[in-house]
Amino acid sequence: MTAPSPIRTERHDDVLVIISDNPPVNALGAGVRSGLDAAIKQGVADDSITAMVIRCDGRTFFAGADITEFGKPMQGPGLGEVVDAIEASSKPVVAAIHGTALGGGCEVALSCHYRVAVPSAKLGLPEVKLGLLPGAGGTQRLPRVAGVKLAVQMTATGDPISAKAAADAGLVDRVVGEDSLEADAIAFAKEIAGKRPLPRASEQTVTPDPDAIAAFKAANGRKMRGFDAPAANIACIELAASGASYADGIAFERQEFMKLMSGTQSAAQRHLFFAERQAAKVDDIPAGTALRPIRKVGVIGAGTMGGGISMNFLQAGIPVTIVETAQEALDQGAGTIRRNYENSAKKGRYTTEKVEGMMGLLTPTLSLDDLADCDLVIEAIYENMDVKKELFGKLDAICKPGAILASNTSYLNIDEMAAVTKRPGDVIGMHFFSPANVMKLLEVVRGAATSPDVLATVMALAKPIGKVAVVSGVCPGFIGNRMLSQRGGPANQMLMQGVAPERIDKVLTDFGMPMGVYQMSDLAGVDIGWHRDPMRIESIRDALAAKGRWGQKTKKGFYDYDENRTPSPSPEVKQVIEEFRAKSGQEAKDYSDEEILGALLYPMVNEGAKILDEGMAQRASDIDVVWIYGYGWPVYRGGPMFWANTVGLDKVVAGLEAQGVAVAPLLRRKAEAGEKF
Ligand code: 3HC
Repeated sequence: MTAPSPIRTERHDDVLVIISDNPPVNALGAGVRSGLDAAIKQGVADDSITAMVIRCDGRTFFAGADITEFGKPMQGPGLGEVVDAIEASSKPVVAAIHGTALGGGCEVALSCHYRVAVPSAKLGLPEVKLGLLPGAGGTQRLPRVAGVKLAVQMTATGDPISAKAAADAGLVDRVVGEDSLEADAIAFAKEIAGKRPLPRASEQTVTPDPDAIAAFKAANGRKMRGFDAPAANIACIELAASGASYADGIAFERQEFMKLMSGTQSAAQRHLFFAERQAAKVDDIPAGTALRPIRKVGVIGAGTMGGGISMNFLQAGIPVTIVETAQEALDQGAGTIRRNYENSAKKGRYTTEKVEGMMGLLTPTLSLDDLADCDLVIEAIYENMDVKKELFGKLDAICKPGAILASNTSYLNIDEMAAVTKRPGDVIGMHFFSPANVMKLLEVVRGAATSPDVLATVMALAKPIGKVAVVSGVCPGFIGNRMLSQRGGPANQMLMQGVAPERIDKVLTDFGMPMGVYQMSDLAGVDIGWHRDPMRIESIRDALAAKGRWGQKTKKGFYDYDENRTPSPSPEVKQVIEEFRAKSGQEAKDYSDEEILGALLYPMVNEGAKILDEGMAQRASDIDVVWIYGYGWPVYRGGPMFWANTVGLDKVVAGLEAQGVAVAPLLRRKAEAGEKF
């Protein structure tokens, strides 16, 4: 028995309405494609039909090709054929858009002769975010309909535009009533039914705009660094703008699409798409678990972390009570939040009213008692277990029953904090990453006693505050910092063998990390964890700290910094390292860039395998999400575990053995079985 088609048709006088019902997002899978194809043929063949409307049931117009079909053999007609059939129709076809017309969905709309949309609709070509380009004519039709400048912007950034912006650009012909899309689309179809010639995107000419393309490249070069897809998208638009025929443009688009689709970058980016959504699911918590309402949040500590954490909630319209121990620190914290918002307003991100609205939701206080009516309290004080325990004891007494008590600790044991309360089930870790209002990762630490509904509530809270949540078990450093701690040792070992810190860092930044080991050290502070005795020099770090080279804050650390914080290699550091090496008697060793990379990253993968084996992470893809959203691991390399798969687990094992690192049993088992994470 074949599955019922997700496409149905309804007649409204002489207009044929073609409706897709393919939840959740009307992805253009095989059934939808063949259904659309058949429906268009039906409309063309039926003499009593003068125009057609394509619309979708549910929350959105087609949100794109069905990504789950990628990499599998194609069933039924390809999307390119379907959109060509729509455009070739002898009768006008109107796209009626609500929700998000994305990717292939936007390409369906572009192949229609007309487009109407509700005001809240968005149109976009986000393929670039999957390491791809629009592969059903989008790169050739969009510049013809909406101009080269917008086409480059939409395809190379992947960011959608509003219905109004689309209407201004000629991409939408009419913005219709929010609640009357179908009726308005049918009325529109009747109005234009007799108009000829039909406006076919592929038949229009493109006005060249080399300045717009050059300006876009200049403005976005840094963001696009390392990614293959943006340049491929731009190349397709450039070809369209060069006067090439539509057919030549399509042939080039196809060729570039196939190249990207078969490459590692797109595989990595598609992996992340699903990994991110998968991370939100906790295996042993049923989907329908009742959540606790979070209407008011308390944050303890108005420093960099506390302030950044508060901003997330204020932006989401959730009132925040922020607590400090001294008036000066409180004023400073609130002042920093205001300044950050005002700076964003200057850049056009917020209106002044929005800034005032958000600041109006902030209540600074010196009294913990003011947290009594909060539904969630997050402590972001300094990392000291005794102090945290004392605080949790107080919170337990002050906070209302059912309030969730969270710690932002980046490595301490949540269970110990929970144990001092009478409500260990309500205690959880919410580890934000600095800067907390920017970094997308939220590591949610599930204590031994954390209640399922508390975990589910915090996981669900991530989305409205713009975070991607990943669950971690309780272990020192949780998922991210536990893995991070593995690369310091090998890096220092290489320093001792005569590899310059700037070379080690460059290998990591060339790989795509935002900064290297020593740049990160300088940012965090070389003196962190230092014993403060300048006479006791047991490591290169001690030697630098003793010389006041504490990192960016003292304008010198592993690097020298100028007034713009631009780093340059330091002769003094070179000398310190040389002296230290000479004393230790370590022999110099040559490393290739690939060996440096392996020495730094394989131990992290190894630790990831242990984390997985111990059940501290639910799945390997969760670890990838942590590293991409918390530490800036290059998206196009798919996270450490995905990357290890692309390197080959047997090669990772061999590298670890050569380094003398004990190989994690899970990693060894998988490598021997020829499996992947
Ligand atoms: N294919 C397959 N599944 C998809 C999908 C797609 N294009 N888009 C979303 N889904 C799935 C998600 O995996 C998720 O599944 P789950 O519930 O099992 O985890 C479910 O739909 C709901 O998705 P979200 O949780 O993301 O729902 P939101 O409401 O937050 O967001 C959305 C909706 C804005 C449509 C978002 O899902 C999205 O951005 N989707 C991807 C859009 C996209 O990239 N389209 C281009 C595809 S490539 C293409 O079209 C190639 C063409 O040019 C040939």
